[in-house]
Amino acid sequence: MQIGKYPRVRISTIPTPLEELPRFSAAVGGPRILMKRDDLTGLGMGGNKARQLEFIMGEAVARGSDAAITCGAGQSNHVRQVAAAAAKLGMKCYLVLGPAVKTEMQGNILLNRIYGAELIWVDTNDIDAQYAEMEKVAAKVEKEGFKPYIIPRGGASVQASVAYANCVIETMTQLNEMRIEANVWLQATGTTATQAGVVVGARWWLRPDFRVIGLSVGRKRVDLLPKLVGHANRAAESLGAPFRFEEDQLTILEDYVGEGYGVPTPGCLEAIQLMARTEGIMLDPVYSGKAVYGLMDLVEKGVLTKDDTVVYLHTGGVPAVFAYDKELVSGLGL
Ligand SMILES: Cc1ncc(COP(=O)(O)O)c(C=O)c1O
Repeated sequence: MQIGKYPRVRISTIPTPLEELPRFSAAVGGPRILMKRDDLTGLGMGGNKARQLEFIMGEAVARGSDAAITCGAGQSNHVRQVAAAAAKLGMKCYLVLGPAVKTEMQGNILLNRIYGAELIWVDTNDIDAQYAEMEKVAAKVEKEGFKPYIIPRGGASVQASVAYANCVIETMTQLNEMRIEANVWLQATGTTATQAGVVVGARWWLRPDFRVIGLSVGRKRVDLLPKLVGHANRAAESLGAPFRFEEDQLTILEDYVGEGYGVPTPGCLEAIQLMARTEGIMLDPVYSGKAVYGLMDLVEKGVLTKDDTVVYLHTGGVPAVFAYDKELVSGLGL
């Protein structure tokens, strides 16, 4: 893989641990489960975007930028990690946020302010409206004498996928050292850029039996699959890979979304509690809680059995727990 050709800044704490979850596995009566702890990537309280920002901010710095602009939902983890990365690199940071739900000064929003980012609320989740606002901010910032760099929503970019192709290589090396053969990879999927990198990395490792399953946290499978193929093929091309993907080679499940993005399901809350009480590991109510509940359900349905060895990628998101105190307290009877 031609990872070395991408500009990069070393701002996260990687490699992250690969940790066995024996008590959680026993509690669900399931397969051997290992967790890739990308909630522990360090920068800005961790998460998958910190690993990706090594390459995204690497590109920004290479272009001479001194002001990062991005957008997302109010409790977006991506924007929080951009705020931290900008702080670490001495850049200005502008975050276009919407819609106006969960706007209390809590969780990621509070952290964004502490990291020194400027918040611009747009009261819409419409991607075109958020991009139009980012362009306006960029023009203003440029007039003030800075060089802005616009980061796509969720950080979804070739750089993001390249970071996760690299993460698979890191994980496979750890598995080899531990003398463990895993055959399934599970993770939460939002923009699909992370999963795209994972499928490229897994295919590169020449493991045709290795199944990568993305669990949607908001959108329908039919909307996500073309995006996943697009991100995966752009990353494969950029990395010089001798393969491309079709939709029917990739897996996204939409069964664990519930009412929609950012609305925790009862299963999601159950998963958060079980992981906390068996392994002392915190999940989050928007991404990892839904995905781990998906893992539990796939075991319950017999799709994953004791013969499987699963790697679950913990993509972080934990600071959002503090913005969902009411849902957690009432849903779990705490
Ligand atoms: C905690 C967490 N997990 C998973 C994801 C999904 O990653 P992607 O957008 O690359 O699919 C995100 C994206 O924001 C996230 O914040």
